[in-house]
Amino acid sequence: MADLMRCWQLASAEQAYRLELVQRTVPTPAAGRVLVRVRAASLNYRDHINLNKLAGREVSGRIPLSDGAGEVVAVGPGVTRVKVGDRVAGCFFQSWTCGRFDMRHHQQDLGGTIDGMLTEYADLSADGVVAIPSHLSYQEAACLPCAALTAWYALMNRGGLKSAESVLVLGTGGVSVFALQFAVALGCPVFVISKSDSKLERCRSLGAVQTVNYKQFPDWDREIWKLSGQKGIDHILEVGGPGTLGKSLMCVAPGGHIALIGVLTGFGPPQSSLFSLVGRNANISGIYVGSRTDFEEMNKFLEVRQIRPVIDKTFRFEEAPAAYAWLASGSHFGKIVIDV
Ligand SMILES: NC(=O)c1ccc[n+]([C@@H]2O[C@H](COP(=O)([O-])OP(=O)(O)OC[C@H]3O[C@@H](n4cnc5c(N)ncnc54)[C@H](OP(=O)(O)O)[C@@H]3O)[C@@H](O)[C@H]2O)c1
Repeated sequence: MADLMRCWQLASAEQAYRLELVQRTVPTPAAGRVLVRVRAASLNYRDHINLNKLAGREVSGRIPLSDGAGEVVAVGPGVTRVKVGDRVAGCFFQSWTCGRFDMRHHQQDLGGTIDGMLTEYADLSADGVVAIPSHLSYQEAACLPCAALTAWYALMNRGGLKSAESVLVLGTGGVSVFALQFAVALGCPVFVISKSDSKLERCRSLGAVQTVNYKQFPDWDREIWKLSGQKGIDHILEVGGPGTLGKSLMCVAPGGHIALIGVLTGFGPPQSSLFSLVGRNANISGIYVGSRTDFEEMNKFLEVRQIRPVIDKTFRFEEAPAAYAWLASGSHFGKIVIDV
């Protein structure tokens, strides 16, 4: 094994961080830790938020990206859960193995409070990795830890999604395309909104039944309501946040569920009244990724259903800044991967 590894880190700059390619010593795993030779990593909107200081987070010197997959090349003393040669992905929250969320997990988020996966070698907790589905490549498996798990946890754990219930996804980024794939696999009618007709066409080819272009129909909630036969949508994956929540509330079904996930329209207060939640006896859940147990359940589902992540584009390790720029452009469909 090499003594030195290459990794990207976030360097402080004026308005945003700057990506810096550096060399560090390859870590030696301590007790309870494993060393993973990372083969691929993937980007999430969160990485754009961190790079551009949109949430004001201090990540100076940090290796970015929560999502990556590779093989275990060394284990520290006492590790029995995984062994050298295992194909694994890192868990977004290294310490959230099962059960309800605990605030201490905020100190254990890869690529945020602790070093992430845009590196040749990652030193992870032996409890913070999962075996990857056997039918997936490292590139595909690198798409799972944040986007896929968030969609799965929102729909299945918190939403209790059942076959034939309707699902609405906003846009065609990482979380939304996974949610579309999971819901279609369960036989649920899926509704999608996007700014792009060609992306909506791709959603229909993946099994979506109804699509609306939100640029053409800024009042897309009315269109969705009509298309649902005025019944509303049983499960909405709210990745927009303050600027879209009001519309989601106007097309959720009575007794339906809104999974509040994202901040694509910012971190401010909702731009409209929340009161229709009451009038519809509807539910809303705050979602933050999911636990290792949810990840393992999702992986079984992916394997049984032979579902493969939709990769938009793969960049070389040296091209990481270009991968970030492609994410920021909002042109992608599904996931953006970096080969390591
Ligand atoms: N809470 C959590 O655990 C968690 C986990 C993952 C992600 N997130 C959040 O969820 C959001 C999505 O993340 P991601 O990684 O999937 O993002 P992404 O891959 O960058 O997807 C962004 C896509 O969303 C669509 N979009 C943008 N603005 C929109 C709007 N106003 N209305 C409807 N659609 C819009 C666009 O798709 P079209 O081109 O099709 O319009 C855009 O390409 C982000 O805010 C992220 O921070 C939260």
